[in-house]
Amino acid sequence: MGDIEQAKQEIARLSEVLRRHQHLYYVEAMPEISDLEYDRLVDSLLFLESQYPDLRLPDSPSQRVGSDLGVGFPEVRHTIPVLSLDKAYTTDAVLQWMKRTRERGETHLSFTVEEKIDGVSLVLYYEKGLLARAVTRGNGSVGNDVTANAKTIQSIPLRLPKPLDVAVRGEVFLTTQDFESLNKEMETPYANPRNLAAGALRRLKSSETAKFPLRMFVYEAYLQSERSPDSHVGILHMLKDLGFMVNPSLGVFAEDELHAAAEAAVSHLASVRTGTYEDLPGHVARQMERRGTLAHEIDGLVIKVNELAVRELLGYTGHHPRWAVAFKFDAPEAQTTLLGIDVQVGRTGRITPVGRVKTVKVGNSMVSNVTLHNQDYINMLELAIGDTVAISKRGDVIPAIERVVEKNEEGHTTWTLPSDCPSCGTSLVIQGAHSFCPNDDCPDQVLGRIAFFVGREQMDIEGFGPETVAFLVGRNLVRDIPDIYEVDYDGLVGEPGFGTKKAGSLGQAVSKSKDRPYASLLVALGIPDFGKKAVDLLLKAGIRSMEQLLALVDSQDMEPLLAIKGFGQRTVESLFEYLSRPAHRQMIERLGLLGLHMRAEKAEDEQILPQIFVDQVWCVTGSFEHFAPRSLALQEIEARGGRTTGSVTRKTTHLLAGSGAGSKLQQAASFGTKIVDETDFIAMLEGGPDGTD
Ligand code: IVH
Repeated sequence: MGDIEQAKQEIARLSEVLRRHQHLYYVEAMPEISDLEYDRLVDSLLFLESQYPDLRLPDSPSQRVGSDLGVGFPEVRHTIPVLSLDKAYTTDAVLQWMKRTRERGETHLSFTVEEKIDGVSLVLYYEKGLLARAVTRGNGSVGNDVTANAKTIQSIPLRLPKPLDVAVRGEVFLTTQDFESLNKEMETPYANPRNLAAGALRRLKSSETAKFPLRMFVYEAYLQSERSPDSHVGILHMLKDLGFMVNPSLGVFAEDELHAAAEAAVSHLASVRTGTYEDLPGHVARQMERRGTLAHEIDGLVIKVNELAVRELLGYTGHHPRWAVAFKFDAPEAQTTLLGIDVQVGRTGRITPVGRVKTVKVGNSMVSNVTLHNQDYINMLELAIGDTVAISKRGDVIPAIERVVEKNEEGHTTWTLPSDCPSCGTSLVIQGAHSFCPNDDCPDQVLGRIAFFVGREQMDIEGFGPETVAFLVGRNLVRDIPDIYEVDYDGLVGEPGFGTKKAGSLGQAVSKSKDRPYASLLVALGIPDFGKKAVDLLLKAGIRSMEQLLALVDSQDMEPLLAIKGFGQRTVESLFEYLSRPAHRQMIERLGLLGLHMRAEKAEDEQILPQIFVDQVWCVTGSFEHFAPRSLALQEIEARGGRTTGSVTRKTTHLLAGSGAGSKLQQAASFGTKIVDETDFIAMLEGGPDGTD
């Protein structure tokens, strides 16, 4: 055997041995040889390759040490869309997303929960099993080619055990420990592991990149040739089998525990957590708690649809897939200056300081006002006018000041609430954490009460906007709620903003509102801590008239109300307090005399519908003109005693097929399931001849 042949064999042998040890060390974290022995093997291989450069294999483990040749990072086009993720900041938002997705997804879904690694996104393109290109995310369609640098990352296989054409997405990161020890030696330390990892991956010389213990977790694969597994868990398992490093932290959640366990089993991971949809928020909470104990930084969790066929059905928006959502631990933040603090008087007299800030973009919205809650909150922040502040939007609700970033230079000290009501001058009183204006006739309170009463969700008086409220209250035509019904609207013609038409329609809308249900009136009164939910519970508990309610209050016995599930001490006390006040009793009496409803009629949704679908099992597919979202059709079926399922089986008796119905039609036909279109369905609901067959 010639020298060359011998060298070739030795190179192959060393490569093989090194690959195995690299995998044991970097992927399995279970080394079998010492670092010294390992370095010797690498050196031998490097030596041989330097003697016989032509013999160097394209996937030689020696490439892990990188090269001193500086190369730029040419721009290359991605052959898969490298999209970002839609974001949610609360578990509620995640649950809503899951609900929407399940409705859209048509069949029973399972969801996976993964850690959202806070690293650098990278796409690895393999051609016939060889790592051909490693490309940064870039703008999603064009990224930078960092192949030489990526090859120094030990957890990235240079060659796969199968000759696959596949694109693999993942995250390059540094462990917190590695970051901390490396950062100590930096002249200008990096703010976080992600920044350092990004810097390391973009070193001009790959030999420099090789000095960093970068790692990569992968989480998505796009197979070009081979048949793909049919679930995300299957993909993760495949990636692991191919030698990639897959994050072992995984949750699988489905309609029922068994389904979840079956899906999870595909991963062959012992550590998978499974559960029902309802278990998911608990899992999210636990993961949030564990965050600080992990070896790497995560900035959230990623919830994904597990079934790949459903992913395809759900598709993409230009920005993100509809089949995944990122639950972000940290709310989006921005910095700005506090320009001033306004004091608002609410309809219940509660005083709220509202910060005015220099307009700034937070997440996706422009913010110029922030709630400051109360004096305690301002004291806690030690907030003064002119301070530079960090503001956040948590769960896409009202933006809040998180902290003061820099104190003002004008010498302003911590801001304090005035002692008198800014609207009526009455001395404020403190109750718990809040200050209140105790004057029922305070103009701002009256404005707030009237505006609330006429609002869409309450008495829904059309045309009664803020200007109308301000005008009527300002003119002293409305001093309290019942006054709304005694204004001579036609007599307002000619006043600013009141043409003949406006006056006429407003008068009509006001009298029409007398017909609003008792429940709406009860909400519209604006009793503190007694909103729509509480009203619903009260009616469900059988207390369905004002007379009954007032009798309870007069008996001074809170027990019957406290017994209502969902009613706390606070709700009941607030209700008693409100209804005990003579001014409120007089107002309610006046409303009764004006003809407003003081008892609940049988509500439409409580009517028992004819149970025409009993013993029937319905599946609904496609889209509909009158039932959008489709869940509306499901409701109609269930309200009439029918059962609904997500897929067509032998047991399905009816398939309601809208436009664009797909494979379910064939399935239904093969089972002899009755197929119903939208027109027939509506006829059935309206008691047509088909309804009873
Ligand atoms: S899935 C098309 N899974 O988060 C969906 N992304 O904000 C591909 N990330 O650009 C993304 N961990 O760089 C996915 N387990 C994970 C992730 C993850 C981190 C990053 C990724 C993405 C960004 C979106």
